[in-house]
Amino acid sequence: MKLVAATGNSHKLREIREILNGFEILSEADAGFFGEVEETGETFLENALLKARAVCGATGLPALADDSGLCVDALGGAPGVYSARYAEKFAPSDWDAGNNAFLLKNLQGVSDRRAYFCCAVALVFPDGRQLTAEGRAYGTILSKSRGIGGFGYDPLFYSDELGQSFAEAGEAAKNSVSHRGRALRALAEQL
Ligand code: IMP
Repeated sequence: MKLVAATGNSHKLREIREILNGFEILSEADAGFFGEVEETGETFLENALLKARAVCGATGLPALADDSGLCVDALGGAPGVYSARYAEKFAPSDWDAGNNAFLLKNLQGVSDRRAYFCCAVALVFPDGRQLTAEGRAYGTILSKSRGIGGFGYDPLFYSDELGQSFAEAGEAAKNSVSHRGRALRALAEQL
């Protein structure tokens, strides 16, 4: 089955291809989509549906979108749906180092460092059918970065299940317990 991954994030695209390895996954560019979809939703699922519907409508192909982020208990669930733009006032948006530095600053002196990654995925077909799924990964926020793999908040996220940060884990290990891995495998089961 051929799907367009409705994301401009090359790291997400790589993970989606690894996790859904039985599917042919086109990038937005492969499918001729060069637009930007505004993420105006208040939940991960709303944003995933917005992106998948827009890319499916523009390309005429089934489109798969992921919306994801980090939710920190002591910050009332922030940065949540604003994870990519958390430090945009201080650093260019979606700049991982700026976001990570801002997160550490906001957690200075905080002992409860529990957090989870959440991922909602939506697959929208040209005939209007849609499938959705969600996945979570639980852990704690480290007080300094560990590891060089992954992307985004991975160096600061210590996975309870892996016993290491997502940036220390190999790709296969991260995908086996990650929010994205769980959401995409649940979606594939529905398919
Ligand atoms: P989105 O494009 O609005 O879904 O942005 C998701 C943001 O959440 C990313 O830019 C990262 O900051 C963060 N994020 C989502 N998934 C991951 C992950 O697997 N590792 C690290 N950061 C992630």
